[in-house]
Amino acid sequence: MEVYHSIAEIRDRLKKEGKTIGFVPTMGALHQGHLALVERAKSENELAVCSIFVNPTQFDKAEDLAKYPRTLDADLALLESVNCDFVFAPSAEEMYSALPQMKFDFGNLEHVMEGRFRKGHFNGVGIVVSKLFHIVQPDKAYFGLKDLQQVAVINRMIQDLSFPITLVPCPIIREDDGLAMSSRNRRLSPEARKLAPHIFRILNEAKLKLEAEEKPQNVLSHVEEAFAAIPEFELEYFEIVDFESLESLESKNPEGQNALCLAAYLDGVRLIDNLVF
Ligand code: PAJ
Repeated sequence: MEVYHSIAEIRDRLKKEGKTIGFVPTMGALHQGHLALVERAKSENELAVCSIFVNPTQFDKAEDLAKYPRTLDADLALLESVNCDFVFAPSAEEMYSALPQMKFDFGNLEHVMEGRFRKGHFNGVGIVVSKLFHIVQPDKAYFGLKDLQQVAVINRMIQDLSFPITLVPCPIIREDDGLAMSSRNRRLSPEARKLAPHIFRILNEAKLKLEAEEKPQNVLSHVEEAFAAIPEFELEYFEIVDFESLESLESKNPEGQNALCLAAYLDGVRLIDNLVF
């Protein structure tokens, strides 16, 4: 496995290889959810390339950026263990020698759900992912459905800018008790960690109710009540949306896929999860 910190060097190196590239962009603090993406990239391409960069332009709160775990040595060992070929781990100065002036506007896709609570977040994601795409020039890019809205935004960006890249959305990897893996889980206290699987339980209950033809409005109320019953949780949003457009659904989508999406604070840690069906 080769590790690069410079844009020019990794770009030249990958060009010289001239092989098909599966790319996994990350912010590090890697866990099995990230590694599953790298394994998939490796199995479907000649080379697997992973980037590790805590992107300052996608954080709306300086405090969140400062608190983000940075565990480069452990990350590199994990990537080595899944036979990743190349790692790109630039500094903030390398990526942003000048702060980008251009702005992405993803329309409705960026105003709902995460976008309502994290101003400028998807602009920052669009900027960094497009820069990484230009640097790595992958054939396929692997993104987790854990960040469903991010998948929708990147899908749109690839279409709108004609990136010659196939987006591969990958399933959410969960702990045995259902908690979606996340680098934020390590910030949960032992007591909060025990409560965290309620998120997946409540999502599954909501899905069953929708499948039993309950009205979305009743399902919303059920979810709000279920979280209110556990005082350690503070539900930020719960939405029933169309999987592609992310528009709120008045009634269950008979043809397309439904997505149940939520964000909740537990013990001061913001967790997101979703269920697509
Ligand atoms: P990060 O949060 O590090 O996530 C990197 C990738 O791993 C994303 O595609 C995310 O959806 C995926 N992932 C995280 N947890 C997962 C899980 N439990 N199961 C499956 N996939 C999971 O997302 C970002 O970084 C950044 O926004 C980035 C795209 C790198 C741009 O800065």
